[in-house]
Amino acid sequence: MTKRIAVIGAGPSGLAQLRAFQSAAAKGADIPEIVCFEKQSNWGGLWNYTWRTGLDEYGEPVHGSMYRYLWSNGPKEGLEFADYSFEEHFGKQIASYPPRAVLFDYIQGRVNKAGVRDWIRFETAVRWVEKDGDTFNVTVCNLPEDHTYTEEFDHVIVCSGHFSTPNVPQFDGFENFKGRVLHAHDFRDAMEFKDKDILIVGTSYSAEDIGSQCWKYGAKSITVSHRTAAMGYDWPDNWAEVPLLTHVDGKTAHFKDGTSRDVDAVILCTGYKHHFPFLPDDLRLKTANRLATADLYKGVAYVNAPDLFYIGMQDQWFTFNMFDAQAWWIRDAIMGRITMPDKAAMMADVADRVAREDAGEDDYDAIWYQGDYIKELIQETDYPTFDVEGACKAFKEWKGHKKAGIMTFRDNGYTSVITGTMAPKHHTPWKDALDDSLEVYLQN
Ligand SMILES: Cc1cc2nc3c(=O)[nH]c(=O)nc-3n(C[C@H](O)[C@H](O)[C@H](O)COP(=O)(O)OP(=O)(O)OC[C@H]3O[C@@H](n4cnc5c(N)ncnc54)[C@H](O)[C@@H]3O)c2cc1C
Ligand SMILES: NC(=O)c1ccc[n+]([C@@H]2O[C@H](COP(=O)([O-])OP(=O)(O)OC[C@H]3O[C@@H](n4cnc5c(N)ncnc54)[C@H](OP(=O)(O)O)[C@@H]3O)[C@@H](O)[C@H]2O)c1
Repeated sequence: MTKRIAVIGAGPSGLAQLRAFQSAAAKGADIPEIVCFEKQSNWGGLWNYTWRTGLDEYGEPVHGSMYRYLWSNGPKEGLEFADYSFEEHFGKQIASYPPRAVLFDYIQGRVNKAGVRDWIRFETAVRWVEKDGDTFNVTVCNLPEDHTYTEEFDHVIVCSGHFSTPNVPQFDGFENFKGRVLHAHDFRDAMEFKDKDILIVGTSYSAEDIGSQCWKYGAKSITVSHRTAAMGYDWPDNWAEVPLLTHVDGKTAHFKDGTSRDVDAVILCTGYKHHFPFLPDDLRLKTANRLATADLYKGVAYVNAPDLFYIGMQDQWFTFNMFDAQAWWIRDAIMGRITMPDKAAMMADVADRVAREDAGEDDYDAIWYQGDYIKELIQETDYPTFDVEGACKAFKEWKGHKKAGIMTFRDNGYTSVITGTMAPKHHTPWKDALDDSLEVYLQN
């Protein structure tokens, strides 16, 4: 009997899994039957932009957290697929920080070529997964037909992402604030904040990038409030970093050091939660957003039920190529090419990963830690080997470029670790490039 595999989500992680199985089939292997359930009407996950916020047309929580004018926040040389280069897709080398539409096009290119779209049931939300002896019962809803049904699978691979359910803290006075309060998940267009004084809470990538977008598109001032530490970049003149917000009063925001300022909007860039409403307690991953997740052997197999896998649940320096490494490894575990040890050994593996991450001292250690993890996985499969060390070095250069100029770092280029070609300089500095369309970006 052919095994049946359920893949939940057709974002970059789910698509990596489809491509992994398809590549084995292309080499002549007998592969299991793959069914991918995707609640949206198209693939690409977060890269499939939606204008919607809140609930979608079917009353489902909107998955999208991306916004207009978003450009990659790290160099594309750190995420390039080892089996499908940017040059293969675009027919030429392109600049290093592509806007969302360009990366979406690239993601689609590989899976269009692989011909796996038919494996996906779109507009089908996974409602519940249950273990029943050696198999899983997966209950899904065909949203347009409002039809719920259950099918049986030998393995489930959760690829539903973890940057879509916002972490939303409460601050006193929000209920009477005389402006807009929103979470980054619902941010869509920086033009809304032109000529406004905005307050951002949080200091990570969303804070940095949403603040930078608002600055680029004409916000009057940006104030960023930190809980732990300020970001410390050399910000423009109308940008300030302040301690944590304590409360708001009318339009006035008050901070821990006793200072205050008037603001028109508060954008909570306070991160996301791992959220799996379709999984019961005994199958649900409970982890912090870190590099060594809890309870995942090799970062992917759930130690309490190792027929269940997760992709992309780590905090992410590496993205697409890490999802690939994980997907190829899971494929081989499912196809019996890799043997999994007993539970004690799997738990020891998790503990070791956590200890090694905790021993790291800074971001550079974290980058190399995740790079080593990718190397470890790809050594065990036939995923094309690539210069992971070179990708780590691109991230190191990127961090240096950010320190040198937070509004200019995207004007730099890096060498592809897949084709060895240097990216061309983009035709327009990022701060002046207001049109983020694919057509304009590719005009190099
Ligand atoms: C604002 C923002 C900007 C980012 N920018 C970058 C960047 O510049 N570079 C970078 O490399 N990474 C970036 N990331 C990181 C991002 O997490 C990854 O690039 C990538 O999208 C993760 O892929 P994924 O498939 O794991 O998850 P997702 O992209 O989130 O895809 C998950 C998919 O699962 C589907 N799904 C969820 N629940 C269900 C269900 N119950 N039933 C059926 N389907 C379901 C969703 O509809 C979605 O299509 C960014 C993240 C955010 C939030
Ligand atoms: N252009 C882009 O490519 C782009 C843009 C945006 C986001 N992203 C991606 O999106 C992902 C998520 O990034 P993120 O910045 O949203 O989340 P994140 O990295 O998890 O950071 C969460 C931030 O919220 C703060 N925070 C959490 N709870 C808080 C509270 N109660 N009060 C005050 N501050 C609080 C944290 O502060 P502490 O430090 O004090 O914990 C931290 O600064 C990343 O992978 C990132 O790369 C990419």
